Amino acid sequence: MQNSRFLRACRREPVDATPVWLMRQAGRYMPEYRELRTKYSILELIKDPVLACEVTMQPINAFDLDAAIIFADILPPLEGMGLELEFLKGEGPVIHNPVRTAKAVGQLVLPEPRETLSFTLEAIKLVRKELEPRGIPLIGFSGAPFTLASYAVEGGASKNRIEVKKLMWNEPVAWHSLMNKLATLAGEYLLAQAEAGAQALQLFDSWVGELSPADYEKFVLPYSRKALEIASKAGVPLIHFGTGTSGMLPLIQKAGGDVIGVDWRTDLAAAWDELGDSVAVQGNLDPVALFAGWDALQPQVEKILDRVKGKPGHIFNLGHGILPETPVDTVRRLIDLVHDYTKTTP
Ligand code: CP3
Repeated sequence: MQNSRFLRACRREPVDATPVWLMRQAGRYMPEYRELRTKYSILELIKDPVLACEVTMQPINAFDLDAAIIFADILPPLEGMGLELEFLKGEGPVIHNPVRTAKAVGQLVLPEPRETLSFTLEAIKLVRKELEPRGIPLIGFSGAPFTLASYAVEGGASKNRIEVKKLMWNEPVAWHSLMNKLATLAGEYLLAQAEAGAQALQLFDSWVGELSPADYEKFVLPYSRKALEIASKAGVPLIHFGTGTSGMLPLIQKAGGDVIGVDWRTDLAAAWDELGDSVAVQGNLDPVALFAGWDALQPQVEKILDRVKGKPGHIFNLGHGILPETPVDTVRRLIDLVHDYTKTTP
């Protein structure tokens, strides 16, 4: 298992072919997932370890993927803090009691993820049993403090993130207290997932690109670093992913991570040059490229692979999560193309 392509690439060791997995690979673009969703809500799927295991395995059974990611979401950890989470049809996640004041921050509980998120830890154990004979490693994950704070403060999706930035600038004491709690929660949750069997951990900072580099450095970096420092006690590779980070990749790296996730707005080789040789990189195909015809898609994939050719430590992925309407057949061809194009004969 430690010799799997994915874990070797995380450690920047040479591989026989470039490993590939896709962020949000278990989900709505798959008919098997949509079928289960006619019977269960997303939270029901996440909170039942047997069902969560089944969903995790769906893309593994369908495609030649090099890693699995546990089926969960970044938001259930907020429930243990006292936030009321609901996924509304067509609208996405909603927090009914968003945190907008110093008082509300003070009332947030710091939960013990081994208790409040035991369903995901249990699911990890079940998935590991299925993956072990196939030699495929399992990734655990958490939302990063800023992305979690965005949902906790805004109460759901938000275009300009006015509420979260207002709290950050106007109430620095409350902000630092909130981020401290979220960093501890994210770090402990990641650590618990590794203890349950996850062989790599990814921190998703999906909305961090909304910040200026200066604000990131002052208000966010110390907390992402804290979360990653706690998680690093597990001794497994840490993947640090954000979108819209082209103006602050060195700061993302400064916060930590053995692998840095890069979105498609940056040339992957240029990003890697900026980051230097002490990290591996993951990315970075535009998820919308999977909607293009194969003749338009194939050269985009090959170009990414060519740009980082011969340098150990590239994990192929999309630059952000796979989109709901993505054609399944294109996903299969993409994964096979990455392997075929990079295969080396020993
Ligand atoms: O990758 C995987 O296969 C694991 C599953 C996974 C989900 N969410 C399941 C899910 C992962 C890794 C996530 C992470 C996540 N969740 C992020 C970070 C990654 C990213 O894409 O930026 C964020 C921001 C969320 C929050 C979230 N969850 C939103 C905004 C939504 C609704 C809109 C959307 O993107 O689907 C969800 C719901 C959700 N989480 C679904 C899935 C499969 C779809 C729910 C459904 O079945 O209707």
